[in-house]
Amino acid sequence: MAAMESSIKANLVASVPDTSASQENMSQANWLLARGIKVKDRVRLAKLSHMRYQTPDLDALCDFMLNFGMVIAKRTENEVWFRGYGVDQYVYYATKGPKEFLGGVFAVDSKEEFEKALKVPGASRVQHLSEAPGGGQMVTIVDPDGFLFNVIFGQERREDASTAPAEKLRANYPNEKQRIRQFNRFEPGPAAVHKLGHFGYTTTRFEELLSFYTSHFNIVPTDLLYMENDGHRIDVTTFMHLDLGQSPTDHHSFFLGASQTGSHVHHCSFEVFDYDTQHLGHQWLASKGYRSVWGVGRHILGSQIFDYWWDPAGNMVEHYADGDLVNEDTPVGILPAGHESLAIWGPEVPLAFLQ
Ligand SMILES: [Fe+2]
Repeated sequence: MAAMESSIKANLVASVPDTSASQENMSQANWLLARGIKVKDRVRLAKLSHMRYQTPDLDALCDFMLNFGMVIAKRTENEVWFRGYGVDQYVYYATKGPKEFLGGVFAVDSKEEFEKALKVPGASRVQHLSEAPGGGQMVTIVDPDGFLFNVIFGQERREDASTAPAEKLRANYPNEKQRIRQFNRFEPGPAAVHKLGHFGYTTTRFEELLSFYTSHFNIVPTDLLYMENDGHRIDVTTFMHLDLGQSPTDHHSFFLGASQTGSHVHHCSFEVFDYDTQHLGHQWLASKGYRSVWGVGRHILGSQIFDYWWDPAGNMVEHYADGDLVNEDTPVGILPAGHESLAIWGPEVPLAFLQ
């Protein structure tokens, strides 16, 4: 049956204030207060630094990461450090061995904050990263679900960090032509990685981890997703940002999703320049025979354009571009969980992503 002309409306594309993005929200201050979190006692993480994995085949990982858009900062027989084009010395570290997740790493920018991290329950060994580019020292904390969580201090900044490898494209809209006598041309190749953006877990101990991370670190939910059970709401997913006061910070640097079946790292995600470089990167990885998980698409929460891939060891890694930024005034969005809240466009979400 033909649709009535008036029943079909054109889609809507808009940027809306963070205060009106969710139908229901509460201030971060009230959320912290309601949970009795002592804001001053928390370790103030300054930024996300890098990911750490143990993986059986370093050669295979190097091939993948080069095609994913990273550069080898340093390699030894049993270790490799990959960097992007940003200021970080490296964004991904791997050591040779049976497949194992060794945790994400956040940086603190003072000795005082590092010493606070040493006192977090589960904090154990301190490593002096003398072999790693930029050096520094790192404490490893075992969280209540057994995940390793690391804090680094004293790493030198990379001096020769380049600027963006791509020119900002000017778009020609119907009502605004920004590009006159300038033709777009593209070169196939990997999507150059800028920085590590976020990572997160699937966990059977969701509530414990939410409490652990938000009470010991300046990690605050940006969005909380719930399920209803007998009229009660149970939080099942959260995207969290670093509380850096008024400074803009990524919509999420860390996330947690509840699971009934088992705890594992879900994915880590790296920023690339823009939509076109991301699509070109997708095509490049596909042409090399790598396995796509899900993408290219556009998330709803965080707004990122996403593209998920399996690395050779079966770890999920993501390219993202154009993510939202928040600060301490952004209210915590509260919304029902559902697969339909994952993407506004893109391929159908595969089962492998939801596990
Ligand atoms: Fe992601």
